[in-house]
Amino acid sequence: MPNPQLTINSRSVSFAPGQTILEVARENGIDIPTLCYLKDCTPTGACRMCMVEVKGARSLLAACATPAAEGMDIQTESPKVIGSRKLNLELLLASGEHNCIVCEANGACQLQALAYKYGVETVRFEGRTTNYPIEDNNPLIVRDFSKCILCGRCVQACNEVQVNKAIGYGYRGAKSKIVTSGDRPYNQSDCVFCGQCVQVCPTGALTEKKAKGMGRAWEMQKVRTTCPYCGVGCQIW
Ligand code: FES
Repeated sequence: MPNPQLTINSRSVSFAPGQTILEVARENGIDIPTLCYLKDCTPTGACRMCMVEVKGARSLLAACATPAAEGMDIQTESPKVIGSRKLNLELLLASGEHNCIVCEANGACQLQALAYKYGVETVRFEGRTTNYPIEDNNPLIVRDFSKCILCGRCVQACNEVQVNKAIGYGYRGAKSKIVTSGDRPYNQSDCVFCGQCVQVCPTGALTEKKAKGMGRAWEMQKVRTTCPYCGVGCQIW
């Protein structure tokens, strides 16, 4: 039996049952921007960057969390979609201190790259009121909550990829925060410093301390290595 078909940007493509719109698009070389999506993990639909327009749907749909269906007619760059992405980027930028010029992730930040791509140069909204201090009291990781967009990729990397289960969500509403073992600093938690959370962070919220002063992101080369800390021997980039 032939695979079912749908249309993306007027192009007919086939897909395997169970695939999401995002997976079908990427398989066919069609770019849909994402921030919270982490391959092979449960989609959270947290960032809303992957919204697409599906003919007949009452609202835009998150491509990462919407199963592909036979006959869908999808637009990934319609004016409505672009408008939604720009507004969303403004809101994400307003949610913290995204002062790129002094950010450790400058040049390697997915939020910055998307703001540039979609021409978001000004933010019309007030920022949120919480002011959690920077966590810098361990030898490896700097955690700057003001740059966290609550995408949850670090939570997924810790819980679904590494299965350490040290990182989770804490508090509610404007006080929402990514926490470690309840709400303890990294060095007093169940964290084994595997570094997966840092690798998947799309902004400068999590950075490697050792990178400070040793060059900018575009000057460095990443190599595959083995984490020496807990003895499991996880492979990391
Ligand atoms: Fe789909 Fe974040 S990538 S909602």
